[in-house]
Amino acid sequence: MEHALTSEAIHHYCENHTTKENELLYDLNRQTHLRTELPIMLSGHLQGSVLKMISQMIRPQYLLEIGTFTGYSALCLAEGLQENGKLITIDNHAEQAEIAKEYFLKSPHKDKIELLLGNAIEIIPTLDCLFDLVFIDADKINYTNYLDLVIDKVKSGGYILADNVLYNGEILHLESAGKNAKAMHNYNEKIVNDSRLDSVLLPLRDGIMISRKK
Ligand SMILES: C[S@@+](CC[C@H](N)C(=O)[O-])C[C@H]1O[C@@H](n2cnc3c(N)ncnc32)[C@H](O)[C@@H]1O
Repeated sequence: MEHALTSEAIHHYCENHTTKENELLYDLNRQTHLRTELPIMLSGHLQGSVLKMISQMIRPQYLLEIGTFTGYSALCLAEGLQENGKLITIDNHAEQAEIAKEYFLKSPHKDKIELLLGNAIEIIPTLDCLFDLVFIDADKINYTNYLDLVIDKVKSGGYILADNVLYNGEILHLESAGKNAKAMHNYNEKIVNDSRLDSVLLPLRDGIMISRKK
């Protein structure tokens, strides 16, 4: 993908100096490019490695992902789960979810991952878990709604990550920006003004907001 913040050369240098994707992730990355129309949605090697590392630092027991796509980020996040941990991932696209399921079954973490098919806005209120880590990576216009829906389901000291918060730099030109970039700006403003959270916006790839619930 085009990276608004880092040159392609820097991005590739970083990838080349990051531990290689394991075979399963490499294959999923390739199959996602062959079998889906918007492979650009996949987190990819660099961001996936960051998600894995964050998850390994937190060692979550309960992890929620909103927006599975073909399961790449879920497989990265699952690397940090505790022995008895569980990752719930939600997507409303049946065909993509089939690819994700296929790859979850090949993963050593298969028994820890549960994929829920449907609209995340309807599913999240039905979840009866306190999460250590939530990754928001679905439809941009609902990010603020997702925050409202998950905040009371995040443990004190737990984390909320949100992807694409810089929206390819469009957030700097709001007068001409599309609805997704405006939604990302609204999310960033809401987050930074929320006294329940400490947050940092990392200019990684398309921007990741990391928030910690106090
Ligand atoms: C950017 S992709 C997720 C990428 C994935 N996290 C990764 O890094 O590989 C966004 C996903 O959100 C899903 N999605 C969009 N709106 C949704 C909704 N309301 N409920 C559930 N899933 C949704 C889409 O079907 C799509 O697969």
